[in-house]
Amino acid sequence: MTSTDSTVERGARAIDVSDAHYVYPTGHVVALGGVDLHVEHGEILGIIGQNGSGKTTLTKLFNGLLKPTSGTVVVNGVDTSGHTVQQMAAHVGYVFQNPNHQLFARSVEAELEFGPRNIGVPEEEIKERVADAIEFFGLADVAEEHPYRVSFPIRKLVGIASIVTMRPSILIFDEPSTGQDHHTTKIINDLMRRLREQGTTVVCVSHDMPLLADVVERVVVMKDTMIIADASPREVFADKALMARTNLQAPQSTEIALKTVVPRGGPIALTPHELADDISARLAGKATAPQQTVR
Ligand SMILES: Nc1ncnc2c1ncn2[C@@H]1O[C@H](COP(=O)(O)OP(=O)(O)O)[C@@H](O)[C@H]1O
Ligand SMILES: [Mg+2]
Repeated sequence: MTSTDSTVERGARAIDVSDAHYVYPTGHVVALGGVDLHVEHGEILGIIGQNGSGKTTLTKLFNGLLKPTSGTVVVNGVDTSGHTVQQMAAHVGYVFQNPNHQLFARSVEAELEFGPRNIGVPEEEIKERVADAIEFFGLADVAEEHPYRVSFPIRKLVGIASIVTMRPSILIFDEPSTGQDHHTTKIINDLMRRLREQGTTVVCVSHDMPLLADVVERVVVMKDTMIIADASPREVFADKALMARTNLQAPQSTEIALKTVVPRGGPIALTPHELADDISARLAGKATAPQQTVR
């Protein structure tokens, strides 16, 4: 694979999905019924929606794992329909919900080396990237272990790290924090912030509302094969009717704020930090509303 394969076409958006339909051949299940989605470079986007609404199917279109039955998917200016997953891997990293669908090497370290080697990263740089990932994800103690011998939360981190070491300009996560403990959730949170600082485009499917409230700038809501809302997390989570319609629960901080602060007006709290500020302001008799905290 030549270096031009990963070159971003000038002026191209990160992701351009136009009127995408997807029908699974098995049972003719309609999973996407006409989806339009445009993602700019450097955007951090969350996708929420109840089970079966089409989130995973949509994200699998981004790296060409699935090709739309009709409509187009163009990523970094490259139409996925004429390209293999291997070719798209230089542009898009895809972290599976279940790491067992992804890991196959004999050791954690070998797993982390595989991706960058596969896209032609020089050996010296592979070493640096792997060392960096081992440190960032805290995998030093398990580097020599077989990926299937480590705990599920750590295995999931290995799955994430093995894609991150390819340093694609677009990263897709399907439910990254599902099945995670406090320690690994924090690492995933830190990773999202780091990716944001690096300007990586991130699409994160998640039910983890506090994670989304903390790191994403835009939330897309899916229901029954369609996108039904696309707005800031503050707008989406404060929309009680929308949340009820999709059987989703806003972050607890937002729910508490809606019950206690809304009559006073102003932007609604998304995070515990903002809620605390808001309560303090109220107690102090001030009517200042919280601003979104960017950390
Ligand atoms: N491999 C498959 N074969 C047939 N139907 C599938 C397959 N995968 C998903 N589906 C169906 O497609 C729809 C969307 O699924 P999915 O994209 O996995 O939703 P989500 O990720 O939002 O839970 C559901 O009705 C699901 O049952
Ligand atoms: Mg899914």
